[in-house]
Amino acid sequence: MSPTTKPKFKNPRAKYNFQGRTCSIAGVGSYVPHKILTNADLEKMVNTSDEWITTRTGIKERHIAAKDEFTSDLGAKAALRAMQTAGITADEIDLIIVATITPDMPFPSTAALVQRKLGAHRAAAFDLEAACSGFIYALEVAQQFIMSRTYDTVLVIGAEKLSSIVDWQDRNTCVLFGDGAGAAILRNRPNAHGLLTAVMGADGRKANLLFMAGGGSRCPASAQSVDARMHYLRMEGKETFKSAVQAMQTAATEALRRCEIDISRIKLIVPHQANLRIIEAVGKRLGAQPEQLFVNLHKYGNTSAASVAIALDEAVRSGRVQSGDLLLLVVFGAGLTWGAAVIEW
Ligand code: UT7
Repeated sequence: MSPTTKPKFKNPRAKYNFQGRTCSIAGVGSYVPHKILTNADLEKMVNTSDEWITTRTGIKERHIAAKDEFTSDLGAKAALRAMQTAGITADEIDLIIVATITPDMPFPSTAALVQRKLGAHRAAAFDLEAACSGFIYALEVAQQFIMSRTYDTVLVIGAEKLSSIVDWQDRNTCVLFGDGAGAAILRNRPNAHGLLTAVMGADGRKANLLFMAGGGSRCPASAQSVDARMHYLRMEGKETFKSAVQAMQTAATEALRRCEIDISRIKLIVPHQANLRIIEAVGKRLGAQPEQLFVNLHKYGNTSAASVAIALDEAVRSGRVQSGDLLLLVVFGAGLTWGAAVIEW
């Protein structure tokens, strides 16, 4: 770069001394189960219509895992694709982080089960729970391990089998969710860029907007908890919608501010895919052009922690992202939690 060339962006991490360490995303991958559940199929299950689902959410269909297909299976398949893109083998992985709210079981972690499925026996493994915001939280945690020289190669997965906690009798929620997984390989690679900044936030005062009451220490599984349908997710849709738009706008604005760029410098915004109206409202508030917004929720519905990971993989594979482009990821979920990240691809 000549001394007069204006830098493309400010790297907010540059003020820290990482002694030559830089972390980049070396590969991404995703996987969704084969079975597709359309809006027409849902019309036969609950009192709903394709017209209502399409106009209120933008969703047309979602993928549903088989009975014998679990979150760890979806995650491992997405991971294999990411490893292939990154050109690495399982024994090169130092750490596996799985972001999920639908682990195969309360313990051991889904990350440990993925480790076994991949044969990544050198890797440490743990799960991270930040609901739909989990993938950005996990990317940032992975980046911190790499920058601190603890690890060189980290596998980050967002994976969900939401069909296992959806109440198929509740039309308010059952039309919204789907199953799937996305993965990314983060590596220390000299002179490469990656996650320039990640904003993370939470507000536990609004935990009651989106939750599953049963199955934890507060209300362990019992005949009564099953009868009361407490092992399904519940959501206050309208309030969650309002909080989502506000929090995503605030997080995205802060991420852009830290990099000293405005929205026009972003090639593609990859938002959490919960509702087309949320995505459009956030895009409008940020001053983005419609073509800057990546949308794939018509095919998958809301896949929680997997959502932005699948979207990132599809955006890259579709050729809409080229080396050097700046991406803005922005997410929102139960907790409440939220996050935004600027990535140089
Ligand atoms: O990933 C975590 C974050 N999650 C989200 O961000 C989701 C946020 N919320 C939303 O996306 C929207 O609030 C929903 C899609 C869940 C609901 O849309 P809405 O425009 O907020 O609708 P509403 O809840 O105000 O419901 C409007 C009407 C109600 O009928 P009444 O009371 O007005 O007679 C509902 O009973 O729509 C009815 N309704 C349905 N009708 C047909 C609710 N679900 C359905 C349905 N089919 N599936």
